[in-house]
Amino acid sequence: MRLDPADIALPQMYSFLTSAVVPRPIAFVSTRSASGGFNLAPFSYFIAISSAPPLVGLAVVDRKDDPKDTLRNIRETGEFVINAVDEDLLPAMVQTAGEWPTGVNEFEIAGLTPAPSEKVQAPSVQESPIHLECRLHREIPLGNAFFLVGEIVLARVDERVLTEGRVDAAKLRPVGRLGGEFYMPFRELAKVPRPRISRSSGQPLT
Ligand SMILES: Cc1cc2nc3c(=O)[nH]c(=O)nc-3n(C[C@H](O)[C@H](O)[C@H](O)COP(=O)(O)O)c2cc1C
Repeated sequence: MRLDPADIALPQMYSFLTSAVVPRPIAFVSTRSASGGFNLAPFSYFIAISSAPPLVGLAVVDRKDDPKDTLRNIRETGEFVINAVDEDLLPAMVQTAGEWPTGVNEFEIAGLTPAPSEKVQAPSVQESPIHLECRLHREIPLGNAFFLVGEIVLARVDERVLTEGRVDAAKLRPVGRLGGEFYMPFRELAKVPRPRISRSSGQPLT
């Protein structure tokens, strides 16, 4: 199969991209509107970008005159929280992704608990073991999406997913997004050591 973007319609390219670029981590984004309403929605166009400062990015697809509530709230307040999605949260996370009207609180729809965050006004999802409290660093229009770069101002991690101070994937049991309505639950860890090479000599480091 060959796909030339010049020849195919947008839904086909979306369907291809989201099936081929897999698995994707899911940012479960909680926000607060300027008037104080809570919102919750998943985004899998999501990536870690930089460690100093810690920056993460997510792309919210443009709905023209009707921006997604997440985008509107982040524009209004400059703040959001990214909550990790583990296997237990998968069904509730999917519930929040319905195109619920503005003003609907997806915490209630999904039976999840909004918990206060520390450095931002946006709530966190109490049931999620990792909370990344973010301030908007930059909004970049890219293609048919807005890429939101967030600076993590505080990361809060539940002890239950840690081993010796590190997030342990086997305890976190993260879920990845595949194409269509498919998800990849956690299976097992594959440890594959990287070659340690001296850049100057090209020889293995001893
Ligand atoms: C697992 C998953 C990942 C998603 N990823 C994205 C994404 O990266 N960008 C996007 O614009 N919409 C994405 N969506 C769709 C949004 O979650 C959906 O449009 C949602 O209703 C937006 O909610 P809001 O209007 O409350 O912000 C995703 C949906 C699911 C189920």
